[in-house]
Amino acid sequence: MNALPPLLLALLLIATAAAAAAAAAANIEAYPNIAKVGDCSVSDGGEGLKPIRREVYDGGRIIDISHRLTSDMPSWGLEDGLGQFLRLAASMKNGSLANNSEMKLPTHTGTHVDAPGHVYDHYFDAGFDVDTLDLAVLNGPALLVDVPKDKNLTAEVMESLHIPKGVRRVLFRTLNTDRRLMYKKEFDTSYVGFMRDGAKWLVENTDIKLVGIDYLSVAAYDDLIPSHLVFLESREIILVEGLKLEDVPAGVYTVHCLPLRLLGAEGSPIRCILIK
Ligand SMILES: *[C@@H]1O[C@H](CO)[C@@H](O)[C@H](O)[C@H]1NC(C)=O
Ligand SMILES: *[C@@H]1O[C@H](CO)[C@@H](O)[C@H](O)[C@H]1NC(C)=O
Ligand SMILES: *[C@@H]1O[C@H](CO)[C@@H](O)[C@H](O)[C@H]1NC(C)=O
Repeated sequence: MNALPPLLLALLLIATAAAAAAAAAANIEAYPNIAKVGDCSVSDGGEGLKPIRREVYDGGRIIDISHRLTSDMPSWGLEDGLGQFLRLAASMKNGSLANNSEMKLPTHTGTHVDAPGHVYDHYFDAGFDVDTLDLAVLNGPALLVDVPKDKNLTAEVMESLHIPKGVRRVLFRTLNTDRRLMYKKEFDTSYVGFMRDGAKWLVENTDIKLVGIDYLSVAAYDDLIPSHLVFLESREIILVEGLKLEDVPAGVYTVHCLPLRLLGAEGSPIRCILIK
């Protein structure tokens, strides 16, 4: 979620010529200044030069559960999606030695992580940012579970899942995945998430330290702040939001999630993968 004034992040990407050309060919709308240059320049790199975009690697052993960042993806509270977030600040076509893109986007964009400072101002002031998150929690054995599709995540629902003690990382697949909400550009408040009592039940009755979910917030819209407060109070639980969980069988995997080391940021885009 992104209820706080969005902390905007501007990062300079030094892209290789090949990567930038590939990005330009595949996602012209992210580079509107390129589109104006004309299609012929895009194919200048050579006909048939086409990158492979994958959801799984190594014959399915590695599964990418992060969403691709696109201008059409949903963004908290917005009707028209994320919008343009990439800009080619220096271009070889305009005489630069290399192509250099800049990006500007809310830190809670796409697949992302929340740090304790997100909903606790004193934690924010004390520096509990994404750089302080425990990589041992963000990486390790994880359970992908399907939850009942007709309810938000209440205490009753949590109890019904019978998640064994000792399980430290759980990715909850909900109706959000079936509704393909992460592919709809309009932000939808009717997504499924944790109600306060569900969060409390999980904190008090399980050993879960990584909570993953398939839309922009682990907390249902109606319990937005209360559920976040329950999860983040101890500063031991890490919330990973906006996961891409379709086409993955439920079960046990090893999860790897790596946020950017953004000093002072209470959220960060994150790359998450599952390994069979
Ligand atoms: C980046 O540089 C290459 C030259 O190596 C060029 O072919 C390509 O069109 C450039 N990409 C952009 C987006 O300007
Ligand atoms: C190159 O420069 C021209 C003129 O300043 C500008 O209109 C164009 O958008 C630039 N193209 C890129 C790819 O930056
Ligand atoms: C979950 O809660 C949201 C409000 O936060 C509501 O709009 C939605 O209908 C609920 N979903 C289900 C499946 O009950």
